[in-house]
Amino acid sequence: MATKPRVAVTRIIPDAGLDLIRDATDMRLWKDPLPPSPAELDDLLADAVGALTLLTDKIDDPLLARHPQLRVVSNFAVGFDNVDVDAATERGVAVCNTPDVLTGTTAEMAFTLMMAAARRVSEGVDYVRDGKWKTWGPTLLLGQDIVGATLGIVGFGRIGRELARMARGFNMKLLVYDTYIDPTAADEFGVTYVSLGNLLQESDFVSLHMALNDDTYQMIGADELRMMKPTSVLVNAARGPVVDTDALVSALRDGEIFAAGLDVTDPEPLPADHSLVSLPNCTVVPHIASATVVTRDRMATLAARNLLAVLNGDTPEAIVNPKVLERSQRDSGT
Ligand code: DGY
Repeated sequence: MATKPRVAVTRIIPDAGLDLIRDATDMRLWKDPLPPSPAELDDLLADAVGALTLLTDKIDDPLLARHPQLRVVSNFAVGFDNVDVDAATERGVAVCNTPDVLTGTTAEMAFTLMMAAARRVSEGVDYVRDGKWKTWGPTLLLGQDIVGATLGIVGFGRIGRELARMARGFNMKLLVYDTYIDPTAADEFGVTYVSLGNLLQESDFVSLHMALNDDTYQMIGADELRMMKPTSVLVNAARGPVVDTDALVSALRDGEIFAAGLDVTDPEPLPADHSLVSLPNCTVVPHIASATVVTRDRMATLAARNLLAVLNGDTPEAIVNPKVLERSQRDSGT
């Protein structure tokens, strides 16, 4: 019987994916609820030809250099800013991710945060829990309207587009900023491409959906927040570091913007005593935009299938650096 390939899985993922890997490989599984430390990750990866990783695992060039036997890093996320893709490509390691399966669920959370922050839901819940609800009040917890408001979407990929589709049901006017302008998408989704400055000035809601990279790091800072309306709401379901956290704290505290709804933060996790947690006009949830039962099953299945496909010499459904496969197929003459 042929020996099964050694594979490392850096956290317990839903059985839908874990069972596929368990059956087909010699799986080493990190069972702690917290991520492995860098040293523990090294131990886990010893002799592994494949790794199923999470966004909390830093896969950089030195780590890849210590594990030259690795052929595939399959990330359990659509984002892959935790992986040095250039280094992986250079070393012939395939990097896979989980696009599409989480698009609707993630856009749904952006919309949820938009509504929760605009309508002061967490303040209302606290108000009731704290026993402050004594009567109906004409000026109690006044928020901002969503129906008919202007939504600015920064980053018009899959999730930004899905949010646009949802927002049309709320009769929102849609502005988009993206470095790539897709004229067919403008017609299909009823959006208008504008500059980032115009989007920030004109939107009642600004929702961030760009990938984190050198160009987008702290793209929303003090200057950008100052351009937004004092009645506006900022939503981030992308990555925490696309926003300058200190600038956001000041903008929320000084009333430069009305509120924020954050699925992601910088740092992450956010300590309980952080200003963003205590500010009443900031609604923070712990990076759960894709966290539904069905979507996490789909992510687990896709991440497992990607991993196994590369190990079997097949083309995975989602690969970030297809060059690696083209190169290895060329080298093997297939
Ligand atoms: C991702 O997929 O990149 C999310 O942040 C987690 O689902």
